[in-house]
Amino acid sequence: AAPTIELLSGASIPVLGLGTWPLDDEEATTAVEHAVSVGYRLFDTAENYGNEAGVGEGIRRSGIERDQVFITTKFNKQWHGVDGVRKAFEQSAARLGVDYIDLLLVHWPNPEQDRYVDAVKGLAGLREEGLIRAFGVSNFKPAHLERVLDAGLVPEVNQIQLDPRHTRPDSRHFHSKHGIVTESWSPLGKGSDLLQSTAVDQLADKYGMTPAQIVLRWHIQLGLVAIPKSANPLRIKQNINLFGFELTQDEVEFLSALDTGEGDITDSDSFGH
Ligand code: A2P
Repeated sequence: AAPTIELLSGASIPVLGLGTWPLDDEEATTAVEHAVSVGYRLFDTAENYGNEAGVGEGIRRSGIERDQVFITTKFNKQWHGVDGVRKAFEQSAARLGVDYIDLLLVHWPNPEQDRYVDAVKGLAGLREEGLIRAFGVSNFKPAHLERVLDAGLVPEVNQIQLDPRHTRPDSRHFHSKHGIVTESWSPLGKGSDLLQSTAVDQLADKYGMTPAQIVLRWHIQLGLVAIPKSANPLRIKQNINLFGFELTQDEVEFLSALDTGEGDITDSDSFGH
């Protein structure tokens, strides 16, 4: 199993977990059950992925105890609001087949409807009641977080797109300043040829690891939580086998220098997962 990082609430989140977008229920069940058997304890899903039931089923089939796994899910913009968030929780918990959720996230700020501060307020209430262990947000920029912090609320996690080509230094620094853990989605740089780049391949050769293992190691050494998605049993296993080697500080920086300086995908209005 992966080491953990402590969140502001005191809950512990594993530094490496399984992403599940865009798996359907059946694929998610198979992937999650296998992932538990090779040491995964963190599972990431969302209302919007349509596979929460499959993720819950995979966890049950694996036979692992509920308190040994850390389940993250996220809710859609229709629930932004103090009461809406409770409904979102109830529906996700029912689909997952659990009575509490480890980490519940506002999936997108959806600034056009401007109700994300209330959504986070609702989450704080759920945590107080013990229905969720921790709360956070996803795809929030520092400007969105500022408004949440101004309301006296501190999200414990911000899950954002982050990989060596999108290193998001402004977000990372802002988060560390406030004790917010940064979680990387698409940590392998999906949709790019990052895993084929010379820089990554060179390090893979040096350490006798795969390109994906090098990139995931980079996330972990930066203090991030990474949730690579894979439906392939061998790659699922490979992606958590990261704890027997270490990149040098220079190598971490060498990989960070792959940043293109372009905006990330969440800058585009048409993005939607
Ligand atoms: P697959 O499910 O066939 O393994 P990300 O989480 O960064 O979005 O990346 C997910 C993509 O990367 C998926 O297409 C997944 O495909 C692929 N992938 C996951 N693990 C590895 C790996 N170890 N090596 C190469 N590709 C991988």
